[in-house]
Amino acid sequence: MQFDLGFLGGGQLARMSIQAAQRMGLRCLSIDPDAASPASQVAPAAVGNLNDPDALASVVESCARITLENEFIPATAIERAFAKVGRNPEALMPGLETLALIQDKLLQREALEKAGLAGPEAVAIEDDGTRAIATIGFPMMLKSRKGGYDGKGARYVATPQDFEDLRSLWQDGGWMAEQYVNFSRELAVMVYRTPQMVGCFPTMETIQTNHVCDLVYPAATDASEVAVAAVEAVQGWGLYGVELFETSGGKILVNEIAPRPHNTGHYTLDWGGPSQFEQHVRVVLGLPPAPMDGLPTCMANLLGIAQPGDWRNGLLRALASDPGIRVHWYGKAESRPGRKMGHLNATGGDIVARARAAREAFYSGWAE
Ligand SMILES: Nc1ncnc2c1ncn2[C@@H]1O[C@H](COP(=O)(O)OP(=O)(O)OP(=O)(O)O)[C@@H](O)[C@H]1O
Ligand SMILES: [Mg+2]
Repeated sequence: MQFDLGFLGGGQLARMSIQAAQRMGLRCLSIDPDAASPASQVAPAAVGNLNDPDALASVVESCARITLENEFIPATAIERAFAKVGRNPEALMPGLETLALIQDKLLQREALEKAGLAGPEAVAIEDDGTRAIATIGFPMMLKSRKGGYDGKGARYVATPQDFEDLRSLWQDGGWMAEQYVNFSRELAVMVYRTPQMVGCFPTMETIQTNHVCDLVYPAATDASEVAVAAVEAVQGWGLYGVELFETSGGKILVNEIAPRPHNTGHYTLDWGGPSQFEQHVRVVLGLPPAPMDGLPTCMANLLGIAQPGDWRNGLLRALASDPGIRVHWYGKAESRPGRKMGHLNATGGDIVARARAAREAFYSGWAE
C-alpha cells in the first residue's frame, strides 16, 4: 500500500487529522472536489466527486485504512468503491452500517430512541405535513434528514403559517419535524470506542450563535455515560462527537452524533493531552487509545466576516494580544461570512475571557 491512511473529504478535520498522523510518521492521502482543499496543502490529495464510487475507489485502492471527514458521503457510494477494487469494507472506520444510520438524522433518532436514550421526538414530513404537525406541534425544528451542517439544514418553526411558508423546502420529501427543546445549555462529548475499550474526552459546554458553534469550554459536569450509550446505539467504532442538550432539570438529551472529529474537540490540540485528531488516527489504525490528561481549555471559532481585509493582520493581532493563545488556521482558499476559517485556544486563567478577547483582537485586525 502506498498510504497508511486515506481520508474521504479534505476539509479542516482531514487536515488536522493528517497533521497528527504525519507527526507519527504515517503517509496520508485525501480526496475532495476542491483541488485547493485544506488537506491538499499538507499531504497528497486526489480531486474527485465524493458521491462518485470511481473517484473514491482510487483512495480505497491505495490506503491501508480509510476514514471519513464528514458523514455526507453516501454509504452506498463507499460500498461500491470497495467492491470495485475488491476490498473488504472493514478497512473503513466508521463502518458502513453506522454511517448509513448516522447520515440520515431520522434513522439516527430512531436508533437512539430504540436504545432507550432520551431526545426530541422526530417524524418524517409526508404529504402536506398534517401528520407531522399533529405529532410534533409548535414550536418545532424543521430539519433536512441528510446533508445539514452548521445549521444549514435546520429551521426554527414557530407557527403553522411559518411551516406553510417553508413548503418549498419540505414538499419534495427528505425533511423531518422535530420537537423543539427549550434546553438550558448544550454539551458535547468526544467518545472513542474500540473492541478493547471505550473512553471519553471531558464533557464540554458549547455555545452556538446562529446555529454555528461559537465557544467551547469545560462543562463541570460529566455526560459521558449518555454519550457512550449513544455511540453504542449506532454500533459505532472509532471516534465520535456527541451533541447533547441539558434541560433545566439536569436531564441529558441526545441531539446528534458525528462519526468523526468534531468542532467541540478542537481545544484538545492545545490542552496538553492527546488531541482528538491523534486519538482518531490511533483508533482507526487499531492502536490503543492514548490516556486522557489535560488542562481546562477554551476554544473560539474564527469565522469569515463580511468585507475582510487581510486575515494575517487578524492572526498577528490575536497572537500579539495574548502570548498564551494558540491559533489554528485552515488555509481555505475562500472566505465567506460565517465560514469556519480557523480557531484559537486559550489555556490557563479565565479561559473564556481570554479566548473572547483574543478573538475580538483577531476580528478587529482582519477588518482593517
Ligand atoms: N430540537 C431542537 N431544539 C432546540 N434547538 C435545536 C434542536 N435541534 C437543533 N437545535 C439547535 O440548532 C443547532 C444545530 O442543529 P443540528 O445540530 O441538528 O444541525 P447541524 O446542521 O447538523 O449542526 P452542526 O453542523 O452545527 O452540528 C443545535 O446545535 C442547537 O443549537
Ligand atoms: Mg449539530
